Amino acid sequence: MHGYSGRESERLTDQANALATLVHGGVFFPAGDSVLELGCGVGSQTVHLAARSPRARIVSVDLSEDSLQAARKRVEAAGLDNVSFLQADVHRLPFTDSGFDHAFVCFLLEHLREPCAALAELRRVLRPGGSLTVVEGDHGSAYFHPDSAHARRAISCLVELQARAGGDSLIGRRLYPLLTSSGFAQVRVEPLMVYADSSRPHLVDGFTRRTFTAMVEGVGEEALSSGLMSREDWERGIADLRRTAEADGVFCYTFFRARARRRRSRTGPGPARARP
Ligand SMILES: C[S@@+](CC[C@H](N)C(=O)[O-])C[C@H]1O[C@@H](n2cnc3c(N)ncnc32)[C@H](O)[C@@H]1O
Repeated sequence: MHGYSGRESERLTDQANALATLVHGGVFFPAGDSVLELGCGVGSQTVHLAARSPRARIVSVDLSEDSLQAARKRVEAAGLDNVSFLQADVHRLPFTDSGFDHAFVCFLLEHLREPCAALAELRRVLRPGGSLTVVEGDHGSAYFHPDSAHARRAISCLVELQARAGGDSLIGRRLYPLLTSSGFAQVRVEPLMVYADSSRPHLVDGFTRRTFTAMVEGVGEEALSSGLMSREDWERGIADLRRTAEADGVFCYTFFRARARRRRSRTGPGPARARP
């Protein structure tokens, strides 16, 4: 599970800062509205979320008390006063039905064994007509220059290890069917492509090196001890990934951002009431 070690916290923050415009562009919640952020981790996305909607009331939830402590400090250091934190499991949220106007979920569903169960719980606490924004990656979307079979194999080790842990690092492409089958309405998914070459040094450093290559490197010991690759091949794969951040290197990756709404009740007020 990502989100716990100091190194992983640093990686999540590099990722959030490098991708802030991409992930949060156009995401704004009006004054007075309540927003539930699920799986906030160390608050790397929370600060961007809260700064862009300074008059919305944000409640950020995570399973890990350690991560929440770090998130509280980060939000305080950023001078933001519109966020409160709570330790909770997304499968059993300690909130009444229909209490939130909006929900925001970033890089959480990929880690869950049963994302549909979490989405059903999320739907319960969202008011009818309330909005959901979900952002997830898809490691199958990574391609780069120079191409390397070793680098592709190293990435596939990460995909395999996450699948063995019950997650799905290819979940981005599944957001539309996941949300529609979980009962959400007006589901719209946008691909958000990251393209990094040396004319965009902040993305080469913030994304190619510090986000993606660092994430693959992070599973090195586990990949080797599981026998998924030999040490020599693994080291070559990592070196080839680093090579894509050099002056003539290019790295492409696609995130997916879904927006949806909780369906309004057919038996509630409005025209549907008049139906037989
Ligand atoms: C990859 S981190 C993403 C953190 C943050 N959204 C970000 O993008 O920086 C996933 C987070 O989900 C949390 N998490 C995993 N399973 C959870 C659950 N069942 N309930 C609540 N949080 C959970 C983890 O503790 C971790 O902080």
